[in-house]
Amino acid sequence: MDVIIQTLVVSLVDISTQISSLSLPNPTMLASGIMDEDAGSMKRILESGAGAVVTKSIGKTARKGHANPTFVELECGILNAMGLPNPGIDEYINELKELKKENGIIIGSVFGSDISEFTEVASKMSPYVHALELNFSCPHAKGYGLEIGQNPTFVSDITSSVVKSVSIPVFVKLSAQVNDIAAIGKAAEQSGASAIVAINTLKAMSINLDVKKPILGNKTGGYSGKAIKPIGVRSVYELYHNLKIPIIGVGGIESGLDAIEFLMAGASSIQIGTGVYTHGITVFEDITNEITNWMKDHSIQTIPELIGVAHQ
Ligand SMILES: Cc1cc2nc3c(=O)[nH]c(=O)nc-3n(C[C@H](O)[C@H](O)[C@H](O)COP(=O)(O)O)c2cc1C
Repeated sequence: MDVIIQTLVVSLVDISTQISSLSLPNPTMLASGIMDEDAGSMKRILESGAGAVVTKSIGKTARKGHANPTFVELECGILNAMGLPNPGIDEYINELKELKKENGIIIGSVFGSDISEFTEVASKMSPYVHALELNFSCPHAKGYGLEIGQNPTFVSDITSSVVKSVSIPVFVKLSAQVNDIAAIGKAAEQSGASAIVAINTLKAMSINLDVKKPILGNKTGGYSGKAIKPIGVRSVYELYHNLKIPIIGVGGIESGLDAIEFLMAGASSIQIGTGVYTHGITVFEDITNEITNWMKDHSIQTIPELIGVAHQ
């Protein structure tokens, strides 16, 4: 009898979530920049249980990225200065055509140095993806990312232009390295963004004591993983308090409990980046199972019941 009742409760738990017009089977997504340079690895991530995948950030033309070392593992996370290496949109479309044969939800990440680059890449990418994510937050590529995302006027102008030129939802990915993340989020919302993604890596440095020099070739890089989780949670909380559009939380999520914390702060779904390095691609299924079990134990049946509850 107990087993029957328990099975009934489990089957009542619905972990699907909605971001604008996208219905995700579960709240987990692959974050941009991790195992997403080619169709094959994104296909594996979808098959392993991710609710959606975000592509590597793609620009107008090919970029080699920064000199090595570009990546170092630290005590509580990863420091990287990849420098947005990518094959350029015309070449990357071949990967997207291949990936589109799959069933999963694909979000295309775009970077650029100005309105025209963002709009051109977004327009070329849009037929092959279900939504776009504008990278206004990379902390280690001069003239790109965070340099744009710190300025609400740039965010507003680029978002408006992209929104007008495509017919799919446009998400805006923000950095926590600003005075007031909600003000930047508001600029994106007023310009037609369908969701906010927060947060990207944080600008950081690590020094090799033997050679007395910064470890990374670029000297500084972006810090991700466990250490940045409270900054991500705070950012999502502030965005939720001030905005109406959905928020996608990212930063240091490695377990179902981490994900639930982001949902309670106001996220409607979450992305996992560094957690894929530390736990492997089973992390999506593991986190989904942990969320489901936690909901069951706390008599919660749907994800919307959890979104933003920390504000009550
Ligand atoms: C190696 C690496 C490459 C990344 N590349 C990108 C990228 O191309 N575009 C982007 O928007 N974010 C990129 N990110 C940032 C992640 O998408 C994510 O926002 C950040 O790492 C925080 O999440 P995490 O702690 O789960 O890794 C990258 C992160 C890492 C570690």
